[in-house]
Order: sequence, then C-alpha cells, then structure tokens
Amino acid sequence: MGLLVDEAFIQAEEQRSKLSISDAGNIPVIDLSPLVAADGIEHSREALSGLVAKVGDACKEWGFFQVVNHGVPAELHDRVHAAAREFFALPLEEKRRVRRSKESPAGYHDKEHTKNVRDWKEVFDFVVNEPVRIPTTAEPGEERIDSFWNQWPANPPDLRDVCQRYAKEMEKLAFKMLELISLSLGLHAKRLIEFFRENSSFLRLNYYPPCPNPDLALGVGPHKDPGPLTILSQDDVGGLDVRRKRDGEWVRVKPIPNAYVINLGDMTQVWSNDAYESVEHRVSVNCTRGRLSIPFFLTPEHHVNLRPLEELLSEGNPARYEEYNWGRFMKERNSSNFKKLQEDNIQI
Ligand code: SIN
Ligand code: FE2
Repeated sequence: MGLLVDEAFIQAEEQRSKLSISDAGNIPVIDLSPLVAADGIEHSREALSGLVAKVGDACKEWGFFQVVNHGVPAELHDRVHAAAREFFALPLEEKRRVRRSKESPAGYHDKEHTKNVRDWKEVFDFVVNEPVRIPTTAEPGEERIDSFWNQWPANPPDLRDVCQRYAKEMEKLAFKMLELISLSLGLHAKRLIEFFRENSSFLRLNYYPPCPNPDLALGVGPHKDPGPLTILSQDDVGGLDVRRKRDGEWVRVKPIPNAYVINLGDMTQVWSNDAYESVEHRVSVNCTRGRLSIPFFLTPEHHVNLRPLEELLSEGNPARYEEYNWGRFMKERNSSNFKKLQEDNIQI
C-alpha cells in the first residue's frame, strides 16, 4: 500500500501491525456471577475462593482478562455506546466546541499521540469525580493546584447523563476488581481501595475511523497503562492487541458482547513488587470499519505516593521500586510522551 496518511501517523517499522493478527490462545474470560451473588467480599471469602484463584492466575499469566456477569446493566452499556456513536458522527466543528483547552483538559481531542507518533483516533474524555485537582508547576514546593471541570456537548442531549451514570458503574466494578486482586495477593480485601477514597479517575470515549493505511498507522501505539487497572468496553470490530507474556507475540482480544476487558497497569506491578506485571498493548486499525471503545482509567489523586506493599516484602523479596509520587510520575510520563504537542494538546 502507498502512503495515504500524514507522516505524523507513521509508526517505526518494528511497531507496525501485521494485517492478520491471530486471536488464537486468547486472554482468559472470568465469570463474576459468584461475586454479584455474594453479600460483600469480606463476608464471603470461602464462597469466592475459586474466583479469587482464577483472577490471581489471569493476573500472573496474562495481566489481561475479560469479565462477564459483572453486574453492570446491559441497557446502560448499550446507551453509552449509542450516545458515543452519535457524538463522533457530529460535524468536526461541533465536536471542537468542547475541545480540550488549558481551562479544561477534559473534552474532545483528535490529536492524541503515543510516544510521539500520532494515533489514528478521536477522543472524548471526562473525569468521574469533579473537580479534578492537578498541580500546574513542576518544582516541588512551588506547586500551584488547579481544579478543572468537564465540558459537555449540546448533542446528543443525553450524553452527559448516560456517561455520568455509566462512569459510576465503572468505578463500582473497578473497586470490586481491586478487592479480588487484593485477596489474590493474600492481602486484606480493602487494602488497595484505600488509595482511591478520593480519585482522579476518568472515562474516555475512543473512536478509530477507518484508516487507508492500517499497515503503517496504529489507533494507539504500544504502551502500558500507568494506573492500577483499566476496564474497557469495545464494540464488535476488534483491534485491541495484547503482548502475550509467555512468547511476546501480539494477540487480538476477541470482542465478546457485553464483556469488559480488564488490564493491569504499572501501579499494580509496583504494589505487588513484580508478582503481577503491567502489560503492553496497542490498537490496530482497519480500512473498512470504524471502531468504538470506552476505557475507564482508575487513577488516584496527584498527592498519593506509591511503593511495594510492606506485607508482600521479605528478606528474600526486597522492594524493587523506590517510593514515587503519582502526580509527578504522570507529569513526567506525559511530557516525554507529548514532546511535539501544540497548545491545544493537553493531556489529562
Ligand atoms: C488504549 O489502550 O488506550 C485503548 C484500547 C482500545 O481502544 O481498545
Ligand atoms: Fe492502554
């Protein structure tokens, strides 16, 4: 294929997606119905031990899995997908009325970059708990904290309400997953939730338009997520590729109607002192069908500090990471990711 997209989208040769990625040997699918039936995780440890073991195995072997029978209403899932589709189908000019800006880094954006290569996608972000407070200067001691609020488009009129209700469901599911992950590491069920009493989590609507050069561009370049975990809903098109730990091969995550894809991020790797790892993934695009995906990123407040959890350390298993501050980590990560960006390309 010849060059049909702007140079900014072209991936280095070794990063490009092969046109046929196998979905054989796929990530585990875990049925959460025992959890939905249980009366609180702490009271039902016995009944949940099989489920906890499955989560532990999936975290260790893959760092990626899908969940079904999760308790998120299917009706809400369908409505958020429909509203997102309607939004992305609006004329560009209308979408840009809610574009990200210095005042609000939440909103619409069509110039996302991963590691300095432009992603073939459009994005709409909003934070789950407003306002989010972020430091605006790099030097400790000189920090100024700014608060920002979401921006909502006039159309579709139900987008705001549907998104806000859906985001709360995602937060609930994320907390349940944190409890299961805590138990699978041998920790108290609430051990990890304590970092998120207040949180800066956000939800992203992604639209990947059909691309004339799926051999050269990617919807999102290879990366790992920085938070503890991400919960993603995708339509039936497919394109999310996971780097399989056991052999380093890329595997296409099979879309399952009404399932959620869960992946571990850097924070879980640090907490667990490498017992669980943050896994590399990317999004391939195609020439015929636009794809919609909706990730929820669980993230703490900027002042939270992270390090391997004491209870998991021993003489034979000393800490492999120094303590770090979440806000500073994200700032550094974003500035190295987004060197080339212009004024309007502000990253949450
Ligand atoms: C992401 O990893 O940022 C997006 C994944 C997807 O769209 O499937
Ligand atoms: Fe990601």
